[in-house]
Amino acid sequence: MPRPPIQRPDLPGPFPEHIAIVMDGNGRWAQRRGQPRVFGHRAGVQTVRAITTACARMGVGSLTLYAFSVENWQRPNAEVRTLMRLLRVFLWRERATLMENGVRLKCIGRLDDLPDRALRTLRQTEELTANNDGLVLRLALSYGSRSEIADGMAAAARDVAAGKLDPDSIDEETLRGYLYDPETPDPDLIIRTGGDLRLSNFLLWQASYAELYVTDLCWPDFGEEALLESFRAFAQRQRRFGGLPPEGGEAEQPGKTPPPEQPVVQPKPSQT
Ligand code: FPP
Repeated sequence: MPRPPIQRPDLPGPFPEHIAIVMDGNGRWAQRRGQPRVFGHRAGVQTVRAITTACARMGVGSLTLYAFSVENWQRPNAEVRTLMRLLRVFLWRERATLMENGVRLKCIGRLDDLPDRALRTLRQTEELTANNDGLVLRLALSYGSRSEIADGMAAAARDVAAGKLDPDSIDEETLRGYLYDPETPDPDLIIRTGGDLRLSNFLLWQASYAELYVTDLCWPDFGEEALLESFRAFAQRQRRFGGLPPEGGEAEQPGKTPPPEQPVVQPKPSQT
């Protein structure tokens, strides 16, 4: 089945090629409705589906979702079990939609910590979608940025000890090569739902020059219009990457990926 054409939204500036989201506020969303927290996680899955599809159709290159942190293992067993089940069922049910939209699934984190069934489903879905060339959906699972850096440093130290890595040759790109997925791009835009102003141990290495956008909306309420609002805010930021904007001009936008290969169709007004 042919992929739906990419419909880039009309923005007043650059499009964020790589985005990352801290999906927060599921628990509060549920509690405000007099429901248990897991009710919010279930509703959150629908948002994952909607935002992934919207990003794929708008031609976003990479979407990294903070789905479960290393710290989240401290939550009550029942909540952790529900989250793992939701993940497994999501991956299973969404395969057709991922394929239809050309989405490639990748996961980052201490994945060996995940329950066997969830890990198996995840690996199978990564394999199934490996040749898709559209959006890369990266799920951060049992993920913590400090663990990522510590695990990477341990691997680099082992390579030094084995004579495979010369310590004098280590630079930023060498270190990036030791992160969970060296292909994880630096996000242009990090969105956080739920209103808190923090990164919570998410992509600390990669976030160096990301633009931050926080909305008070809880994750289950974050829809395509809210996503577009964050893109509009991003489009109006001036990114200087520590430099100065050229005289009378805009700052450079390093690391921008080329436009998608598919024809870009501007959406009808009703779709924006
Ligand atoms: C934070 O909300 C959210 C999480 C810890 C889990 C996010 C999980 C999902 C959106 C669903 C499963 C994911 C996939 C990829 C299928 P919180 O519980 O901390 O909310 P609170 O701050 O209101 O307590």
